[in-house]
Amino acid sequence: MKVGLIGIGGMGFVHFNCYKKMEGVKIAVADIRVDMAKEKIKDDSVPVYASYEEMIEKEELDFVDICTPSYLHADMAVYALEHGLHTLCEKPMSTSSAEAQRMIDASEKSGKLLMIAHVVRFMSPYVYLKSVIDSCELGKPVHIIMHRLSEAPKWSWENWMLVPEKSGGVALDLSVHDIDFTHYVFGQPKSLSATYHDLKNNSNHVSTVFEYDGFSVETVGGWFNASIPFRAEYLAVFENGYVESKGGKIINCGKEVSVEAGMTSEDTGINLSGADGYADEIAYFMDCIKRGRQPMRVTPESSKNSVELVEKILKVAKKV
Ligand SMILES: NC(=O)c1ccc[n+]([C@@H]2O[C@H](COP(=O)([O-])OP(=O)(O)OC[C@H]3O[C@@H](n4cnc5c(N)ncnc54)[C@H](O)[C@@H]3O)[C@@H](O)[C@H]2O)c1
Repeated sequence: MKVGLIGIGGMGFVHFNCYKKMEGVKIAVADIRVDMAKEKIKDDSVPVYASYEEMIEKEELDFVDICTPSYLHADMAVYALEHGLHTLCEKPMSTSSAEAQRMIDASEKSGKLLMIAHVVRFMSPYVYLKSVIDSCELGKPVHIIMHRLSEAPKWSWENWMLVPEKSGGVALDLSVHDIDFTHYVFGQPKSLSATYHDLKNNSNHVSTVFEYDGFSVETVGGWFNASIPFRAEYLAVFENGYVESKGGKIINCGKEVSVEAGMTSEDTGINLSGADGYADEIAYFMDCIKRGRQPMRVTPESSKNSVELVEKILKVAKKV
């Protein structure tokens, strides 16, 4: 199979390294910063283009993988789908639900697969949490809290992440991971309430409470204008026990659970913890292509739903 990787900044390079480790996968890359891309790739056999349209025209691709800034996702995905290519695209799906719908329409019209790379659905601590919820081994959920905290992302190309119209800010760029996981596992909440702290110095925090029948889920996302280590954790309390993911460990009622070790942030060079899941999500999408099956683990509609939930959160949030 041959992939056309569009964008080889922080996340694109994580994906690139996943493809490099896969047998029989050929890669072409498109990034407007050709010199930067070549410097990173260090492999003359990988063609590098400044224009993704040219790459799509000249290379015999099976699919594209879009790892560009979020405000570019919709146009690029629609272009690739209209040119007959299956499309994997980084999260968030787009910067508005209208754009997300445009992507869905293009996928349906072309008959080509579209999957948004909601990696948390593939990360071992969250796969484990979902298995505990689905099996009811600890009874029904009582309360779940998920944190995702990071230094404000000042490392992106042209600082696009700090421009709300380009990234959607902390809610759509960061907290969307946990927001997406919440409705992936539990479906639409009965109601939600939120608080948004905009500290005007690149420190932004959003906390949301999703109400379900008999329990609630709280997601907290924060960008700090300070050099702090990235952390993504949860504490899930059930009728008969608890599960937590903390400090890189998964704990079930006080006992550490062993799951397969994934990559670390040192391996990827990007601000992540428990950075497994990337190779799995890519392998899953490629398997869907090979089998001609819709990627049911992350449907385009559910990814659009995440964008819609963020839109709702920003609408109802108490601004502080
Ligand atoms: N799943 C995750 O854990 C995770 C983590 C970080 C970022 N992301 C997502 O990945 C995407 C990329 O984020 P990033 O951190 O890699 O950003 P980045 O700024 O590091 O990289 C973006 C890259 O896109 C390139 N680019 C810009 N315009 C282009 C164009 N027209 N054609 C080709 N290339 C172009 C830039 O040169 C840059 O190399 C975003 O949607 C972000 O939300 C996901």
